Amino acid sequence: MAQLWGGRFTKKTDELVYDFNASISFDQRLYRQDIRGSMAHVRMLAKQGILSQEERDEILAGLTGILEDVEQGKLSISPAYEDIHSFVEANLIQRIGDAGKKLHTGRSRNDQVALDMKLYIRDEIGETDVLLKKLLRTLLGIMREHTETFMPGFTHLQKAQPVTLAHHMGAYFEMFRRDRSRLSDILRRMNTCPLGAGALAGTTYPLDREYTAELLEFDEPTRNSMDSVSDRDYLIELLSALSTIMMHLSRFSEEVIIWNSNEYRFVEIDDAYSTGSSIMPQKKNPDIAELVRGKTGRVYGALMALLSTMKGIPLAYNKDMQEDKEQTFDAIDTVKGCLTLFAGMLSTMKFNRQVMEDSARKGFTNATDAADYLVNHGVPFRDAHGIVGQLVLYCVERDMALDDMSLSELKSFSPVFEEDVFAAISMKTCVDKRLTYGAPGREAMEQVIGEYEKYLG
Ligand code: ARG
Repeated sequence: MAQLWGGRFTKKTDELVYDFNASISFDQRLYRQDIRGSMAHVRMLAKQGILSQEERDEILAGLTGILEDVEQGKLSISPAYEDIHSFVEANLIQRIGDAGKKLHTGRSRNDQVALDMKLYIRDEIGETDVLLKKLLRTLLGIMREHTETFMPGFTHLQKAQPVTLAHHMGAYFEMFRRDRSRLSDILRRMNTCPLGAGALAGTTYPLDREYTAELLEFDEPTRNSMDSVSDRDYLIELLSALSTIMMHLSRFSEEVIIWNSNEYRFVEIDDAYSTGSSIMPQKKNPDIAELVRGKTGRVYGALMALLSTMKGIPLAYNKDMQEDKEQTFDAIDTVKGCLTLFAGMLSTMKFNRQVMEDSARKGFTNATDAADYLVNHGVPFRDAHGIVGQLVLYCVERDMALDDMSLSELKSFSPVFEEDVFAAISMKTCVDKRLTYGAPGREAMEQVIGEYEKYLG
């Protein structure tokens, strides 16, 4: 047990209480941020004449030593300390003596932890964004290659109208692009520096909070010291954005699982991203996609947990808030892991073009276009709808596609059909005619792909 307080106590903390209270097992991952924050604080204290230049330099050298030793594995973060703040401060005092005892001047662990967490989250948002960008690049690569890979577009998981694989992937491109923009919104809103808020009511030392904020690359200091130490909104926003990323990954996983099934065979997941069964030798299972889908639950859980933790907390800091960390760390780790694995699975996945196209044809996704053909030749739409309905029934009974029918077969349903009907209802025509902005037609698709290239830079 090593703690920073005890002067007003007459008894030792009960060991179970100590363990229950301690956070070092999980907040140790904030050591870099904690040291960085302390360095900025000390520079500011010296600039304001609260510490001497010599004290500043001694403390900075001590903190640099701690950082290096931890990074090089020479100093391990001992679970004997209550939290990462106590560990760093106690270590500093051991190293440099009395000057180390001045580090915490004009500071509380409440503003300190608020700062550490913001610094950590800023970095993690950056890393998550890099992974999202990688996934978008993978998607764009697939899109470029598959503007003519026809497949059924579905509604109600029933084949509806033909699209292309590029178009289908483009839908996910849009989702993950929005996810990036959500993260950057959060970053912009949270980028205010809480250091200098003290325990809750600021301090009587003449701190220069603008200066600390600038040193730590924040836009400005926070404006209310009570809110500074008890604001966890940005974590809730982050968990919500992470939940949305998982929701997108989970929908995508669900499609990969369906597409990879024995019945669909639209795709084949690479051996490196599949797993086998201990009993059934023929099996190749899409475990990665299933795990990504499954892990969505724990990220949603983290969001619910923090919302619930925060709802009854009176101002200002309360220890409940320590519960923000494990949930948030786990959610970030989960999302980063899922993004990495999913992008790897996607970039090695094989797309079975022919199976997709046959599925679109056999699924009568060109039925609307066949009706349009009749309408263009003077048949009223309602009659055309009926005629094509009969064609579909005829084909279903014979397990064939509309464009497998001969012209004479077609003519037996309507004399209006001519040889050019085959071109009119081919998958290529059906897709390429859909040229409105955002539609799957090749030209429309290529325009959007060009925009995506510009966006990714
Ligand atoms: N471990 C605490 C947390 O994560 C740090 C702040 C402690 N402050 C306090 N007054 N006990 O919230």
